[in-house]
Amino acid sequence: MAMREIITLGHPTLRQKARKVTKFGPELKQLIDDMIETMRAAPGVGLAAPQVNVSERVIVVELPADEEAELPAELYAYVNPEIVKVSRDTEPGEEGCLSIPGYIGDVDRHVEVLVRGQDAFGKPQRIKAQDYLARIFQHEIDHLEGVLFIDRADPATIHKLTPEEAATATGEAAEAAALMPRAEMPAS
Ligand code: NI
Repeated sequence: MAMREIITLGHPTLRQKARKVTKFGPELKQLIDDMIETMRAAPGVGLAAPQVNVSERVIVVELPADEEAELPAELYAYVNPEIVKVSRDTEPGEEGCLSIPGYIGDVDRHVEVLVRGQDAFGKPQRIKAQDYLARIFQHEIDHLEGVLFIDRADPATIHKLTPEEAATATGEAAEAAALMPRAEMPAS
């Protein structure tokens, strides 16, 4: 496994529509492993391949463990993910992005989405994601279309993280912190 560099706003790859993956093999597996390592190191709760300058339809998502509820961390890797069904209900929530460090804004997202895709070996997989997990999937799949959260956020809510917000977000800096609904943020 190896860390990859996360590119930031202004890099043209972030605005490209990513290519569908057709070749499954060791190279793809390596990319996914590297993305997981890079996401964890950031730290973040999701990462799309275009963010490491690979214009391919691959995302990784990791929901942190919830110690209070005794829920383990959940890790997902989706190749060619597609949102095939969405709830009518939407909900605003704070988001940030590892490619736009230090900024957050409120984005309306579907509360529930059904995502279909493939795993690292091309095997079909699907997930019905809700709430925070659904938000992360929608954010990451947007990256594959060259869409960033600042395109969807209510412009009045986009702002630089205050030192106080950054402090609340300890251990969940950048994407993770910003994406986490405020009420669920770990207290200090
Ligand atoms: Ni992002």
